[in-house]
Amino acid sequence: MAKDTVTVIDNRTGKEIELPIHTATQGPDVVDIGSFFRESGYFTYDPGFLSTASCHSTLTYLDGQQGMLMYRGYPIEQLAERSTFLEVASLMLYGNLPDREELADFRKIIVHHSMLNEALKGFFRGFYHDAHPMAIMVGVVGSLSAFYHDSSDITNPEHREIAAHRMIAKMPTIAAASYKHSIGEPQVYPDNRLSYTGNLLKMMFSVPCEEYEVDPVAEKALDLIFILHADHEQNASTSTVRLAGSSGANPFACIASGIAALWGPAHGGANEAVLNMLIEIGDVQNVPKYLERAKDRNDPFRLMGFGHRVYKNYDPRARIIRKMCHEVLARLGDNNDPLFELALKLEEIALKDDYFIQRKLYPNVDFYSGLIYRALGIPSNMFTVMFAIARTVGWVSQWMEMIGEKNQRIGRPRQLYVGPVKRDYIPINQR
Ligand code: CMC
Repeated sequence: MAKDTVTVIDNRTGKEIELPIHTATQGPDVVDIGSFFRESGYFTYDPGFLSTASCHSTLTYLDGQQGMLMYRGYPIEQLAERSTFLEVASLMLYGNLPDREELADFRKIIVHHSMLNEALKGFFRGFYHDAHPMAIMVGVVGSLSAFYHDSSDITNPEHREIAAHRMIAKMPTIAAASYKHSIGEPQVYPDNRLSYTGNLLKMMFSVPCEEYEVDPVAEKALDLIFILHADHEQNASTSTVRLAGSSGANPFACIASGIAALWGPAHGGANEAVLNMLIEIGDVQNVPKYLERAKDRNDPFRLMGFGHRVYKNYDPRARIIRKMCHEVLARLGDNNDPLFELALKLEEIALKDDYFIQRKLYPNVDFYSGLIYRALGIPSNMFTVMFAIARTVGWVSQWMEMIGEKNQRIGRPRQLYVGPVKRDYIPINQR
């Protein structure tokens, strides 16, 4: 019997089916079940993808037991300490850390794609003033498909690359314009002299009638948060982008679908939900009451920012953000933010609680990120938008990787049908 196979025995028929194993460079190997239906007549069943690898990838590796995360083999801790967001973006797109010249070229390209077509302004005006910025993001990013026909041939690698650059470059401009629309202020054009995050801050917080100086603490903090959010393997939004992309849909539409998937509170929407939860809890003395609610199966309340499908240990991103929270709040002179105190206390109490210990529920990336955004003056309805800007790097990199594959096929899961069996139509007067 071949060594690298798994044999499945059908106890109904006694038939043995041998399935090949593919070896990972790190982490669990996979059993290739591509031929399983043909051989056995069974589908495999795995709602929520608890045991299923949906693709192979060279981008991001994470080990949930160890609490380890790497982009292209580089540990997140090293990238967070020593890299910049644009360098990470280049790393994700092209596979290696850029040299000085490559990075300068990449920066130049991104900077020169940062403006929006003037006609796009009309889209923002079409939204009601209190529209959630994520709703605007989904619509406006999807609408980019209507503007860039010159980069929509997905079979052309150059077109794919231009589309990827455009999305990374334009996302901050769209995000800031969504925010400005929601507060009734004029949109601010990008400033090519500034860094990626410095430019975003200026587009969000400057007004045409006043000078604006980017706060270097805020600029650095945002850059670091963006590095931590750049990619995270085959999460819900990334899988959505891949699935949409597998049908040959244009990349702008694919990223819009990723933004929609990210918005949910179980995913990227959790950062906004954490802040709302902390405000609702209000005081340390209310923590036990809310923990009891989180543990009660009959209560839909969950401790937002806690738990993760893959991490059964402290999320390494949360560890970095937690430390950063101390530093940023101290440097911005807001060290006594009562919500940060409350978050620390909530974490401390939860981590000693049997319910959370047994289920290996630790703070995730979203638990502390909102507190930093808040310290930077970013309103809570923009938190998930910030996540979307950073994750665009992962989405486009994953999309490029998938489309570039030789035997790329449409994603088409099957199902366990449990509906009615065949029955005949009954005319309405006989029902
Ligand atoms: N509060 C209370 N109980 C929880 C929580 C929580 N935050 N998370 C999981 N549990 C319980 C859950 O009820 C279940 O208990 P039992 O075994 O008794 O039924 C057990 O822990 C396993 O949870 P699960 O729902 O089966 O786990 P999952 O892998 O399907 O869900 C999750 C993962 C992240 C959706 C979930 O932990 C959650 O809803 N957390 C809160 C939302 C959140 O912070 N999301 C951000 C995730 S990280 C960033 C990102 O992905 O964008």
